[in-house]
Amino acid sequence: MLLDFSQLPPREAYNWMINAITPRPIAWVSSISAEGKTNLAPFSFFQGVCASPPTVIFCGANDRTGKKKDSVINVGQVPEFVVNLVPYSLREPMNQTAAPLPHGESEFDKFDIATAPSTRIRPPRVADAPIAFECQLERIVELGHGPLGSSVVFGTILCMHVSESVLTAEGLIDPVKLDTIGRMGGDFYTRTTELFTIKRPT
Ligand SMILES: Cc1cc2nc3c(=O)[nH]c(=O)nc-3n(C[C@H](O)[C@H](O)[C@H](O)COP(=O)(O)O)c2cc1C
Repeated sequence: MLLDFSQLPPREAYNWMINAITPRPIAWVSSISAEGKTNLAPFSFFQGVCASPPTVIFCGANDRTGKKKDSVINVGQVPEFVVNLVPYSLREPMNQTAAPLPHGESEFDKFDIATAPSTRIRPPRVADAPIAFECQLERIVELGHGPLGSSVVFGTILCMHVSESVLTAEGLIDPVKLDTIGRMGGDFYTRTTELFTIKRPT
């Protein structure tokens, strides 16, 4: 079977991509509007892309009417955001925050998600997230336009909060304690409970 993406409607291309590109890490992004309203939403088109400067990206797809996600609008207004990571224990509140609330209504308030202040930027962190990156907007690259066009948001990591509860005795991140989840296709997720190691060739 061969799929010619030049012939696929965007919605079908999207479905093939999200079912194939798996598992995807989840950025639970907190941002703040010019009026000071907080916002929280999950994005699995997310990745760390550079260490010098330390950079992450997340991608906000336009909705079916072509409207931008609140997270993208907010970082355009206040150029800062937090990427909170999502362990298994936070899967339900993370999912709740994917609800399309009216612009300006805070998912933190609506779903009673505890906040912790950030140290360098205005948007708060998710208090129970084991890891949170405070980011300064670096740039937004627009890909396409209209429905399913995407805003690729680049952020420079200013600092990283790490909970002691996910560290080894040596002070490194323990992947078992971190227990992050990943997004698969449809409603499927994966949990990082079955780990293996492979030594890299020298
Ligand atoms: C696990 C998960 C991953 C998601 N990943 C993305 C994504 O990468 N890009 C996107 O535009 N929407 C994604 N969504 C949908 C958004 O979270 C949803 O549209 C949300 O309402 C956007 O919120 P906002 O308008 O407050 O920014 C995802 C939803 C879930 C549950």
